[in-house]
Amino acid sequence: MSQQIRKAEGKLGILTPGMGAVATTFMAGVIAINKGLAKPIGSVSQMGNIRLGKRTENRNPLIKDFVPLANLQDIVFGGWDLYEDNVYQAAMHAKVLDANMLFQIKAELEAIRPMKAVFDRTFVKNLDGTYIKTGTDKMDLAKQVMNDIENFKEANDLDRVVMVWCGSTEIYFEASEVHNTIEAFEQGLKDNDPNISPSMIYAYAAIKLGVPFANGAPNLTCDIPALVELSKQTSTPIAGKDFKTGQTLMKTILAPGLYARALGVSGWFSTNILGNRDGLVLDDPDNFKTKEVSKLGVLEDIFKPEDNPELYGDIYHKVRINYYPPHGDNKESWDNIDIFGWMGYQMQIKVNFLCRDSILAAPIVLDLALFIDLAKRADMSGIQEWLSFYLKSPQTAEGLRPEHDIFKQLIKMQNTLRHLMGEDLITHLGLDYYQELVDEIL
Ligand SMILES: NC(=O)c1ccc[n+]([C@@H]2O[C@H](COP(=O)([O-])OP(=O)(O)OC[C@H]3O[C@@H](n4cnc5c(N)ncnc54)[C@H](O)[C@@H]3O)[C@@H](O)[C@H]2O)c1
Repeated sequence: MSQQIRKAEGKLGILTPGMGAVATTFMAGVIAINKGLAKPIGSVSQMGNIRLGKRTENRNPLIKDFVPLANLQDIVFGGWDLYEDNVYQAAMHAKVLDANMLFQIKAELEAIRPMKAVFDRTFVKNLDGTYIKTGTDKMDLAKQVMNDIENFKEANDLDRVVMVWCGSTEIYFEASEVHNTIEAFEQGLKDNDPNISPSMIYAYAAIKLGVPFANGAPNLTCDIPALVELSKQTSTPIAGKDFKTGQTLMKTILAPGLYARALGVSGWFSTNILGNRDGLVLDDPDNFKTKEVSKLGVLEDIFKPEDNPELYGDIYHKVRINYYPPHGDNKESWDNIDIFGWMGYQMQIKVNFLCRDSILAAPIVLDLALFIDLAKRADMSGIQEWLSFYLKSPQTAEGLRPEHDIFKQLIKMQNTLRHLMGEDLITHLGLDYYQELVDEIL
């Protein structure tokens, strides 16, 4: 299959609607890495290895040396925001990276300026920016975004462009009729249908142009039948939703372990404090609801209570996020997990994670961008479920339950890469070469 992947020649544009804490940490990180000031730690595409062939072959290259990914030196950044700050100013405001580091790459960061946003306060109540597009209707706004993408591509002499949503979490709403077909959605854009959110307008613009799209927030965005259909029609890879960082990352590491050992779980209480702009947006109950739904699904899908009601049939799962400005981007989370073992004896696990949200999210933006670009060059279109590894609430084909277990997600991602490159898939059976080894010894 490897011969079918087009080479990553020329420059790759990465566009982010939303140039806040995550997007600026990602951009500043890549620029610092390219200048030799930092390492891409946490990026599986850059620093992760992949085993190839049998264990006895000892082949374990870095993923970036195995699959033809865009080179970090060939990346050009752009995006949209409702605040006019350039990336240096926005990164200083976000206070994720220290001022000394930002100062060393100030010129490069200042050169990245947002384009005017498609924004509607109905969907993000706690923000009030002014750097916003106006248009006759939502279709007109979508066309303006398409123009932005094309101008960005031309102005920077880019070979390819991808888009990763790094904008604020929109309020919770469910898919309805206008989201069902491409025709209904396009009519809805022309009619200014109130059920079409700004993130959907960006996603539509990208997918219509065949620009791969990944969604880092829990909003529906491209997780609606109309845009899935459009992504197949325009041969565009899509992925979502919600970067898997912090507490949910820990949850999808721990829960599969408990499940693997057939230990019971009666309660999982998760609470967080964070004080960045994301925290401010999530302080509104309608915006928090979108996040809550994304976070709550995880345990249900890992423990599958209907298959094992004795161990997981009665889990009390609660998730809270509290806006607490003094902590800034340094989110602190607490988990209390009530578990039970042999003969029903109770035990508890406490996790106190002092994490840095955007430090965990930035490499995910990079990997998603590089992998959806790879998918496009490999002629893969529609939902890229193999990228679930990076996502809190993975988008799947209708009727399919998402896989949340991070280890299964990793195996799926690695096997997809092996498959793309014409390598054997790894089942971890190993019986064949075990016998060969035994025979050799005898
Ligand atoms: N940091 C993490 O670990 C993490 C994890 C999972 C998901 N996320 C999600 O990623 C997104 C970004 O997080 P963040 O910490 O960078 O938040 P942030 O508030 O710092 O940045 C979001 C930016 O998006 C802009 N924005 C909002 N609506 C927009 C629109 N319609 N068009 C263009 N720009 C728009 C805001 O002005 C803001 O600058 C959020 O939705 C967050 O929930 C973050």
